[in-house]
Amino acid sequence: ADEGMWLPYLLGQQVYADMVKKGLKLSKEQLYSINKASLKDVIIIFGGGCTGEIVSSQGLIFTNHHCGYDAIASASSMAHNYLKNGFYAHNKQEEIPAGKLSAQFLVKVEDVTKQVTDTLQTLDGEERQQRQQRLFNNIVNAATNGTGYEAKVVPMFKGNQYLLFIYERYKDIRLVAAPPESVGKFGGDTDNWEWPRHTGDFSVFRVYTDKNGAPAEYAADNVPLKPRYFLPVSIKGVKENDYAMVFGYPGGTNRYETSYGVQLKTAVENPAIVGLRDIRLKYMFEQMKKDPAIKLKMAASYASIANYWKFYDGETKQLLKYHVLEDKQAEEAAFREWAHDKPQYQNLFTDYANAYKEWAPYTKHRIYINEGILGSRLTAFAASLQSVERSLTQPDIQPEMLQKSLQAADKARHAFLEDEDKHSDQQIMAAVCHKFYTDIPQAQHPVGFYDAIKAKFGSLDDDNTYRMWAAALMKSTIIMNDDKWADFVAHPDAATLQTDPAFAYAGAFTKNYATRYLPLYNQFMLKNGDLGRLYLKGVMEMQPAKKWYPDANFTMRLTYGQVKPYSPQDAIHYDYVCTMKGVLEKYKPGDYEFDLPEKYMDLYRQKDFGPYKDQKRNDMVVCFITTNDITGGNSGSPVLNANGELIGLAFDGNYEALSHKIQFDQVYNRTICVDIRYVLWCIDKLGGASNIISELKLMK
Ligand code: ARG
Repeated sequence: ADEGMWLPYLLGQQVYADMVKKGLKLSKEQLYSINKASLKDVIIIFGGGCTGEIVSSQGLIFTNHHCGYDAIASASSMAHNYLKNGFYAHNKQEEIPAGKLSAQFLVKVEDVTKQVTDTLQTLDGEERQQRQQRLFNNIVNAATNGTGYEAKVVPMFKGNQYLLFIYERYKDIRLVAAPPESVGKFGGDTDNWEWPRHTGDFSVFRVYTDKNGAPAEYAADNVPLKPRYFLPVSIKGVKENDYAMVFGYPGGTNRYETSYGVQLKTAVENPAIVGLRDIRLKYMFEQMKKDPAIKLKMAASYASIANYWKFYDGETKQLLKYHVLEDKQAEEAAFREWAHDKPQYQNLFTDYANAYKEWAPYTKHRIYINEGILGSRLTAFAASLQSVERSLTQPDIQPEMLQKSLQAADKARHAFLEDEDKHSDQQIMAAVCHKFYTDIPQAQHPVGFYDAIKAKFGSLDDDNTYRMWAAALMKSTIIMNDDKWADFVAHPDAATLQTDPAFAYAGAFTKNYATRYLPLYNQFMLKNGDLGRLYLKGVMEMQPAKKWYPDANFTMRLTYGQVKPYSPQDAIHYDYVCTMKGVLEKYKPGDYEFDLPEKYMDLYRQKDFGPYKDQKRNDMVVCFITTNDITGGNSGSPVLNANGELIGLAFDGNYEALSHKIQFDQVYNRTICVDIRYVLWCIDKLGGASNIISELKLMK
């Protein structure tokens, strides 16, 4: 019953009253205020897709390990493998600049609905999109001019409301601490999206500013941020039914998706994504397991592919199991009934049906391009060289422009090679190229491409044909050959590029898609957007008394609920906490996912838990679960008790509720959180970084 990703800025009296009824001890002003320090001031957008929170007067950030993963891997080398062994800065000098990471604070939110709807009126389709883009730019420019802030206009309720979000971005972020991967990602992909879970999914960073406290690029003499507010940390522990709320940045949900969308997703989209990711993961993993250097370079991309591989697979299963399609059809029937005398909505579902009918035959093709053909790093890089081709074939190109484009490509190639593993990439190309041939209707294939393979390498039904093709490609492409590449950069000409097998392969597929199918996709998306806006307008009109919350769209939300156990199936009861005892039960020495550091075992044997011990259980509580309504993007979000004190970090959802993007399940939905006491134990006892602990405001 704890559905709802509420906008703290528009928290209605009714929702706030319900929060208080459930136990909240804070005033509305303490949750969100523009003028006074409030909880909203500690919540940051961490990097590009996670949440973090400020926990000390010196700009210390807590977030998840999987959110800091890329930064930790990038800071690592085989000699200093922080991903594997963990990292703890014992003073500020030891903190490591985290490259392109940034932290964004929300300055304020404004409702610009009237301005937007006055301008856009009843426009639809492409015209609306273009006008909207211009209007949004104008609003953003007016709001940020001369401030250094960044802003974004975000449609809510599929475009029935428009909000302007203004952010301040800090770019000097440094790595302060991370547990060894065996702890921070304990259970790996086997346990991912599942409860019970025993993962210490946290990492620690710090925001730096210039001497005046303003955002600045990295500089050695920048100083720690002095925040407006920071979270106190409770080490009192959690009990069943305790109030729990999560503030953060959920990335996306589609709770008002139609039956047509659910049907296409379960029947075509998700299975296609999963099948293609199977291929990538298999070949990447084989190499990563063999060689720790390869593991380090591919770890972050492997983790993100694997994470949503399991998500999409589970999402399909749960959508089917819970009969979400049938629920949607029933909702739509009720809507049609209500709308039968309202001309505005007469054609809504016929239009939906037509839009889906027109696009559906190409859905798979689109996914095979994005997740398959471009799922090879080499192919994706080769496709990016089309901008160089454009420069080379433009008749009146300025020499400086051409140089610029070549330099950019050269730089991008360096970055590409740094993470490239030839061996697995070649296998991926071969397998994907074959799968495209088998699974996508022949009429949609790039003209002549497969005939050429057949002529040179043999039967198109034989795996070996594609293996030989990929090997030949890898061997002769200028992209993988430093000398030939240098020669091309020194004497660029279009023919060299166009006859290059990697470039030609990437181009054959992406250009075929871009010219024949992308326009149809764009049309479909516009139509779907227009229909969605209308449908939601109607749905809200139909139930005017209901409290509505907009779909997640990576804007700040809060969700409130309770610490609660659940029963995943008949006769099975899941406790609401798990303990270190369970970590040891799962422990498998030397395993890829369930190994542990020696020191961890020692501390456990000595029961050296310090002030973080759970008295009732005479053990460490590792994770707990709540009924909060979160999704990807919320990762790293603070879990707060009724007093607004930090009790954990949200890091996952449970398997039984993987349908949550489309439909919130009142019975099964849980948020999986790492207990803050375990986080502190990992920093203090396992890491010996008491310097970090002493920055915190502990509530005992
Ligand atoms: N499923 C989590 C999420 O998307 C990420 C967990 C990361 N851990 C992992 N083993 N991949 O929020």
